[in-house]
Amino acid sequence: MSDKYALIGNPVAHSFSPLIHAEFARQTGHDVEYTRLLAPLDGFAAAVEQFRAQGGKGLNVTLPFKLEAYKLSTRHSARAEHAQAVNTLKFEDGAVFGDNTDGAGLVRDIEVNLGFPIVAMRVLLMGAGGAARGALLPLLEKKPVTVVIANRTVEKAHELAQRFFHQGCSGCGYDELVNRQFDLVINATSASIAGELPPLPAHLFAPRSLVYDMMYGKEPTPFLKFALEQGARIADGSGMLIEQAAESFLIWRGVRPDTAQVIAKLRAGTLL
Ligand code: ATR
Repeated sequence: MSDKYALIGNPVAHSFSPLIHAEFARQTGHDVEYTRLLAPLDGFAAAVEQFRAQGGKGLNVTLPFKLEAYKLSTRHSARAEHAQAVNTLKFEDGAVFGDNTDGAGLVRDIEVNLGFPIVAMRVLLMGAGGAARGALLPLLEKKPVTVVIANRTVEKAHELAQRFFHQGCSGCGYDELVNRQFDLVINATSASIAGELPPLPAHLFAPRSLVYDMMYGKEPTPFLKFALEQGARIADGSGMLIEQAAESFLIWRGVRPDTAQVIAKLRAGTLL
């Protein structure tokens, strides 16, 4: 019988994760079944328990349950601890291991796939919610010269930055970005979901900068369109999506799949 995994969330219908993991399973020769699990908004813990009782080996967790998954885990990785959010659950004898592979997926996409080393770069991280928290520690581990966290609600940016100020982290509002330049700008807000653009000043992007939106869709987001108009190099979150999945696969199966061909298939629309 196949080892069972799933993506749990609400909604989950449009997720590419089952296709990505099916590709990983084919590639590595692992006998894995990966499905979608729609949990009621007030029934996350019960749905996890039922999946586990039926022999499930692990889960990916998406919106809006990443914080609940953190609370439900009995053991955490350091990166999940810092993010206070879990996107990967692994069921062990009597324990539930919670990890967060989003930040590692982001950093790997930027450095390996896009060939953009983060060391010594000036980084702007937009947003101070779960997505930004997940990205921060993996970004800092790559030794950028500075990470500025900008957020609409300024106090949240200060609060998050304060925990890492000794590593060159600071927080601010968008209005404080005037006359500043960055080499790497990452949109970790949920603004793109609503088709919105955070209030960014012109001339924010340094020459040869990389501008990254964690969101992924058919069309470039308003944020990426703005960056293109300013002449910046842009990337959407499709590479991150596949890299975080590969990192989860590694946690569950002990082998890291080759992501390059899966990314190419996703972009070509041939992921079956
Ligand atoms: P997630 O887990 O995806 O990070 P979240 O915790 O709700 O979701 O955080 C959403 C982030 O996007 C926040 O930083 C939010 O800013 P506030 O803290 O001020 O709410 C940010 N955000 C959402 N819509 C935005 C918009 N239109 N412009 C700027 N920031 C926005």
